[in-house]
Amino acid sequence: MNSVNLKFICNDELIDTNINPSVTVLDFLRLEKHLTGTKEGCREGDCGACTILVGEPEGNFINYKTVNSCLLPVSEVNGKHVVSVEGLNTKGLSPFQAALVEESGTQCGFCTPGFVVAFTGFLLFTDSFDLESAKIALTGNLCRCTGHFRIIKSIEKILKLFSGNTAISFTERINLLTQFQFLPEYFKNIPDRLQNIQRRLSSSEISAYPVFVSGGTDLFVQQGHKLKEKNTVFMSDILKGQKIRIEDNELSINAFTTVSELENSSIIKRIFPSFSGISKLFGSLQIRNRATLGGNINNASPIGDMSVFLLALNSRIHLTDGKTTRSLYLKDYFKDYKKLDRRDHEYTLKFTVKIPPRNFLLNFEKVCKRTYLDIASVNTAIYLETANDVIRSANISAGGIAPVPLYLKESSAFLKDRKITPETIIELINISKMEISPISDARGSVEYKTLLLGQLISAHFLKLFPDVIRQEEIIC
Ligand SMILES: Cc1cc2nc3c(=O)[nH]c(=O)nc-3n(C[C@H](O)[C@H](O)[C@H](O)COP(=O)(O)OP(=O)(O)OC[C@H]3O[C@@H](n4cnc5c(N)ncnc54)[C@H](O)[C@@H]3O)c2cc1C
Ligand code: FES
Ligand code: FES
Repeated sequence: MNSVNLKFICNDELIDTNINPSVTVLDFLRLEKHLTGTKEGCREGDCGACTILVGEPEGNFINYKTVNSCLLPVSEVNGKHVVSVEGLNTKGLSPFQAALVEESGTQCGFCTPGFVVAFTGFLLFTDSFDLESAKIALTGNLCRCTGHFRIIKSIEKILKLFSGNTAISFTERINLLTQFQFLPEYFKNIPDRLQNIQRRLSSSEISAYPVFVSGGTDLFVQQGHKLKEKNTVFMSDILKGQKIRIEDNELSINAFTTVSELENSSIIKRIFPSFSGISKLFGSLQIRNRATLGGNINNASPIGDMSVFLLALNSRIHLTDGKTTRSLYLKDYFKDYKKLDRRDHEYTLKFTVKIPPRNFLLNFEKVCKRTYLDIASVNTAIYLETANDVIRSANISAGGIAPVPLYLKESSAFLKDRKITPETIIELINISKMEISPISDARGSVEYKTLLLGQLISAHFLKLFPDVIRQEEIIC
């Protein structure tokens, strides 16, 4: 794979380099720049020791996000601001570093740079300086020896400094954070400095047998260093423009949209207000900031959360080879285990979803070995349109119970024009169990997954119709 020219700011330094675009930012920082404060732990997105900030210019402010540098190709930081823990150095310890010392929040110290960067990032982007929001932002950071209790104490101490601050502007925030020595002064000049950087992009020509890279959160775990030898095509070079929009009474979502972008979109908040509950169960903030819908669907994992979500919305997937474009229902895209209705040169452009009527209902359930930062044993989503306790239209999907994320065709058809009663739900669960073909694996036995799907379908109705259905009526 040829080198490309990239320009970006790393901490306070302008970088202008020719480099293989698939080198990870972690390796760039540690091996090229000798900035070894960013730690290499799992190299799989699970520990957060490698957390950095990436700031992207948006209008006249910089949108900083926390990401795992071990899964981030360097080409993705072209024209942006990369901040490692060294880039946060002020004259002494920052107030958070000092709090970690005072509250005994660090022992071996291996996880500490990741926590410092992730929490400083939180102060840069949050509108709610409360403990719950801070904990969600730090779900992707693990400490193995100190225990999280002392780290949370340190966070509580800092949050007191910010009580009362909510919707502050970017400039006010940078001024506040530099004044309190959370950030060094050079942060103030980054917006102007980034404006002067001409982004030189790698070629977006589609080569023979290309590997399409979106967020890289699957690819870099599975293929890591091997990607440097492959013909990679970066979707960030191709899928530009507005990511989420409404066109002809349809919601159109660019395949390069990340889970975080979906969660923060005002359009999604308006149409699917329950989506934030779904996204919080997806990986960690660092993963959500990179994981895209196109990557989730094309990875073809039988337990992909976004696959299950989009299947329940009966969405269409749009594909192109650069010349011709075609579209099909997502439920017809998954053929067999990791087999898709996609030709070698085709990539996913976007997904479209019909705007639902006002009275629709949506619910998502996921059971994992632990609540956060885990993939599902079984997940399922349901979409219903109802009138007077009668179901007019239904789509149910589930993951972990077949070689592919499954649209439960028979179950969905069964629900049409049924009254919502305990008998309907019991029959539905029996039908759903005949549609699935789970296997026993590390995430559970066939019997467990079959039982779990039934329980999760019950959970859909208990949550959506608490006044109509009682738990004891649907035990089967
Ligand atoms: C720590 C961790 C936690 C995770 N937690 C979850 C979780 O809770 N739920 C979940 O569902 N997943 C989870 N994942 C898996 C992963 O994050 C998701 O599958 C993510 O959506 C993949 O998107 P990506 O953009 O990173 O894909 P990439 O890694 O870039 O690509 C994945 C695959 O899709 C192909 N591809 C990407 N974009 C396109 C396109 N536009 N057209 C054609 N092919 C394309 C790539 O070639 C590759 O084969 C987790 C991963 C990690 C490392
Ligand atoms: S090294 Fe563990 S998340 Fe990157
Ligand atoms: S202090 Fe040792 S891993 Fe956190």
